[in-house]
Amino acid sequence: MSDSNVLEDARPSASPARGEERRAFIKSFGCQMNVYDAERMADIAAEEGYREAQRAEDADLIVLNTCHIRERASEKIYSELGKLKELKDQRRRAGRGVTLIVAGCLAQAEGAEILRRQPAVDVVVGPQSYHRLPELLREARLRPGVVAADFPAEDKFARLPPATPDAIARRGVAAFVTVQEGCDKFCSFCVVPYTRGAESSRSVRAVVDEIARLAAAGVREVMLLGQNVNAYHGRDGDGRPVGLAELIRAAAAVPGIARLRYATSHPGDMNEELIAAHRDVAALAPYLHLPVQSGSDRVLKAMNRRHRAADYLDIVARARAARPDIAFSSDFIVGYPGETDADFEATLRLIRNVGFASAYAFKYSPRPGTPAAEAAGQIDASIKERRLAELQALVEDQRQAFNQATVGRRLEVLFEKPGRRAGQVAGRSPYMQAVFADGPESLIGVMAQVEIIAAEAHSLRGRVVSPAS
Ligand code: 5AD
Ligand code: SF4
Repeated sequence: MSDSNVLEDARPSASPARGEERRAFIKSFGCQMNVYDAERMADIAAEEGYREAQRAEDADLIVLNTCHIRERASEKIYSELGKLKELKDQRRRAGRGVTLIVAGCLAQAEGAEILRRQPAVDVVVGPQSYHRLPELLREARLRPGVVAADFPAEDKFARLPPATPDAIARRGVAAFVTVQEGCDKFCSFCVVPYTRGAESSRSVRAVVDEIARLAAAGVREVMLLGQNVNAYHGRDGDGRPVGLAELIRAAAAVPGIARLRYATSHPGDMNEELIAAHRDVAALAPYLHLPVQSGSDRVLKAMNRRHRAADYLDIVARARAARPDIAFSSDFIVGYPGETDADFEATLRLIRNVGFASAYAFKYSPRPGTPAAEAAGQIDASIKERRLAELQALVEDQRQAFNQATVGRRLEVLFEKPGRRAGQVAGRSPYMQAVFADGPESLIGVMAQVEIIAAEAHSLRGRVVSPAS
C-alpha cells in the first residue's frame, strides 16, 4: 500500500462524521469455534462503539473470520477479499473509509502473505490474538497492514469484554462457549495444531461464570466447544485438574441451563467418566459428534489417529450401554493418500455397523506444512469424487432412516425461533434435528415435550405435548 493511502486512511474524513454511528460487520467461515470467536469480536467492536451491521455495504469495520481447514475454504476467502477491496475503493471515493480485518485460521497460517495478496487488508489477526483488536485498530489507523499472528502467553479470555445481556438475547437461546482450544494430536492431514496451537483449557470458574451470565440473559442450551473438547483439562478453584465430565456436571448445575452439548471430540479421549456423564447428567443431550475419519486401520495409522476402527466401535457400544438412546455423528475423509478400494470398503462397513444420525464427509485436501501433503500415493480427484458420493449416499440413507425412526416418539425440543409460518415455532431435538410445531412465540426458550408426527427432507414436524401450547 502506498504512503498516500496510509495518510488518507488516517484523515478524519475516513471515519464517519461526528454523531454518525459506526457499524461493524463480522462474517464467520468454518467451524463453531469461529462462530464463538466472531461473537466475542462483536463484543469487542460494541465496546469500541460499533453497532452491528447486517451487510458489508453498511459497515465501517469489516471482519472476515476465516477457516483454513481445507483448500477450498481458503480460496473462498481470497475471492471474498477481492470483492471487499472494490467496496473499500468505492467507499473511499465517497469520502468514507472502511477498515478491513482478516481474523481466524487463515490469518494465523498465512500472516503477512495475506497483505501481499490483498493490500487492502488493514489488520491480520490470529485466533489467539483477537483480544488485542482495539490496539490493533489504533495501530492500523496510523499504518495499515498490521499483523498479529503470534501465540501470546496472556489469557485471551480474561481480556475479552463480556457480552452484554442485550447481545446475548439477540443471539438466541442456544449458545456456544469455548472451553478448550488447540490440539496436540497432530493427525497427519490437519492444520489445526499449527493454526490453533497447543491444547489449553479455560478454568472451571471462567466457564461456569460465562455460562451463568448467558443463562441469566435467557440462554437455555450451551454447547461446550473445543478443537479437542474431550481433552479438556481445566483447573478448579483449588488448582485441581478437572476433566470434561466434571465440567459438564458443573455446567449442568447452573440455574436455567436445560441442555448441554459438547464438540468436537477425539476417540482417544473418550474416557469412562465422560461416557458415564451421558448416563447420569440429565441435561446432557444423548448425541455425540465423534469423528472417526476412516474405518480402515491402515489408513487410521497413516493418519496418526492413534485409534483403530475397533476402538471406535467399542466406544459406541459403551456409550449405548450407558445411554441407550444416544445417537452419533462423525466426520470422514475420503481419498487420504494411499487409501485403496479395500480401505474405503472398511469405512463403509464401519458406517453400516454404527448407523449414524448424521455425518460430514470431505475429500482429502492436502494442506501445506502437514505430513500427509507430502505423502506418496495421492489419490486422483475422480476417485475421491466417486468415494465421496458413495459415502454421502450411505450416510444420507442413515440420516433419513434415523429421522423416520423418531416419528411417533416424544422428544425434548428447545424452541429457538419463530417458524416458517405464522403460529409456528422452530427448535431442535436432542439430536440436532430441526423441529417445527404449531404454538405461540412464548414457547421460544422453552424445552417442551414434542410428539414427532412427520419427518420431512430436512426437518421434523411435531405436536407440543407439554407444556400445552
Ligand atoms: N482434508 C479434508 N478434510 C479435512 N478435515 C481436516 N483436515 C482435512 C483435510 N486436510 C476434516 C476432518 C475433521 C473436519 C473438521 O475436517 O474430517 O474432523
Ligand atoms: Fe485436527 Fe482433530 Fe486431529 Fe486435532 S484431533 S489434529 S483438530 S483432526
